[in-house]
Amino acid sequence: MEPREADIVLKVIKERRSIRKYKPDPVPDELILKCLEAARWAPTGEDAQPWRFIVVKDPETRKKIGEIARRGSGRRFSVELYTGKMIERLGAHAWPEEKRKRVFEKLASGKVSAFLAEAPVNIVVCADKNTWDPREDCSAAIQNMLLMAKALGLGTCWVIAPCTDVRDEMRMKELLNIPEEYKIVSVVALGYPDEAPKPRPRKELEEVVFYERFGQKKGETS
Ligand SMILES: Cc1cc2nc3c(=O)[nH]c(=O)nc-3n(C[C@H](O)[C@H](O)[C@H](O)COP(=O)(O)O)c2cc1C
Repeated sequence: MEPREADIVLKVIKERRSIRKYKPDPVPDELILKCLEAARWAPTGEDAQPWRFIVVKDPETRKKIGEIARRGSGRRFSVELYTGKMIERLGAHAWPEEKRKRVFEKLASGKVSAFLAEAPVNIVVCADKNTWDPREDCSAAIQNMLLMAKALGLGTCWVIAPCTDVRDEMRMKELLNIPEEYKIVSVVALGYPDEAPKPRPRKELEEVVFYERFGQKKGETS
């Protein structure tokens, strides 16, 4: 790969953001297909290619998916709130008490994931359960999809909220007529962004990279 190409890839990776506010403008089919084309070139364990992608545009169906996501997210964040995990995770923010309360309440309400109803396209990613690594395979495909969408000027958000709880997954399967032998891995919201969120800070490489054995920093010897 030419150095210039590597810079372009890294730029797309770094500039992608999770978008949770979308313009109502429809996304042309050829752009959706480009995202799916990128998805299907992802690597898979044993070359299984276990994925199936359901492109959902129908507003009524999206509304139902948004509602399932809202409930799923609400349950997940409520558990975090009541077990003290939320304060552990978000406590580092020096927010005034009033804002902290508002953020925690919004998270526990599940509203954070209900935006799927507003995204003009929901791509539901499901996988054949009778393969070795369906979750990993589909995750690779989803990331390809997010990056292609970014390169096309589209916004995305990877949303697991409607499928973490088995009861929600069942509701989703019924809604979309998904056969028993498939599991839903996630939903991707897709559309033209109507917000420009700041990047979420990433852990520094020095914190997350070790050499030769876990915990060993560059230049250290055991
Ligand atoms: C496996 C996975 C599941 C996610 N599920 C949700 C979700 O249910 N709802 C949501 O709003 N965002 C979800 N996200 C998006 C993350 O919150 C987001 O990627 C993270 O905060 C970093 O922000 P960024 O994508 O803008 O860099 C998910 C991301 C991943 C990788």
